[in-house]
Amino acid sequence: MPRITTLGEYIVQNQQSFPYAKGELSRLLSSIRLAAKIVNSEINKAGLVDEIMGDVGTTNVQGEDQKKLDVYANHIFKEAIRRRFEVCGMASEEEDDFIAFDGGCKTGNYILLTDPLDGSSNIDVNVSIGTIFSIYRRLSPIGEFANIDDFLQPGSEQVAAGYVIYGSSTMLVFSTGQGVNGFTFDPSVGVFYLSHPDIKIPDNGKIYSINEGNYRAFSEGVRQYVDYCKESDSATNRPYSGRYIGSMVADFHRNLIKGGIYIYPATKKNPKGKLRLLYECNPMAYLIKEAGGLATDGHRDILDLKPSELHERTPLFIGSKNMVEKAMEFLKQEETVS
Ligand code: AHG
Ligand code: MN
Ligand code: MN
Repeated sequence: MPRITTLGEYIVQNQQSFPYAKGELSRLLSSIRLAAKIVNSEINKAGLVDEIMGDVGTTNVQGEDQKKLDVYANHIFKEAIRRRFEVCGMASEEEDDFIAFDGGCKTGNYILLTDPLDGSSNIDVNVSIGTIFSIYRRLSPIGEFANIDDFLQPGSEQVAAGYVIYGSSTMLVFSTGQGVNGFTFDPSVGVFYLSHPDIKIPDNGKIYSINEGNYRAFSEGVRQYVDYCKESDSATNRPYSGRYIGSMVADFHRNLIKGGIYIYPATKKNPKGKLRLLYECNPMAYLIKEAGGLATDGHRDILDLKPSELHERTPLFIGSKNMVEKAMEFLKQEETVS
């Protein structure tokens, strides 16, 4: 019988190699595992229970309608990390401002940022959704409350990041800086098993993921790259397949395994794109880099961007290295023409 490793075993076996290796990050990952299980169980009921589906009737600070599951997932992740004291502060797509935890401020060396429910428009139609998280060391002195500078660190300072995908099976995929590992949840026993060790994204893929309905609002360079994806060329395996779920976690996960590029570019309406740098782009950029891929805003490495506000947005080009580089060439040409 092949040896199987649970997430719990993996954390214990590897904690010596985690950054700072004092067991705190291990306990934090265990909190995330617990929250993921609770949210997963609620999501599985979404077709049955009216209390879970639909809007709450409120909007978040970015003016987006909040779904009941957005609010629920945010609450569960917040409570799971508040009740252990490794985290001194948290920021979330669903919160107006960051939260400095009273308990964690004395002992917590970590900051957590999250998109608790990614792909909320897919909840009511039984399509894969996810949770994204990003972890940093605090900058503020231990004993004081977390402050805004703790949260506005560039993505290159992350010590861990990951996501949960609630799909045909539920998976927790994360990295602590030594590659990316994927754990699949077995709901019959409530355990995550290591199913995808050391994930590497192929340098080339056959999939492009972009909301092409916005084609006319894209810049000339992005339009030309989309046209390039559709051209016939057997040497480069084109035309590529267009796949767009509308949950970044799900689009990202598929492209990570199979190879591909996911793009959310600037549009005329949203010159900084739609996705949030701190909750969505930085953690995915950290993972893709660990998996051998690339993430840029079209020009610069996402991980090098210095955030200036919590809910900041950025265009995103992420996935297989050669595909992202090719897309960037089109943006460069566009610059030289204009
Ligand atoms: P969220 O549900 O957290 O607001 O994120 C939705 C994001 C992302 O997951 C997805 O890829 C993208 O928005 C879809 O946007 P469009 O509908 O504009 O394509
Ligand atoms: Mn999202
Ligand atoms: Mn969200």
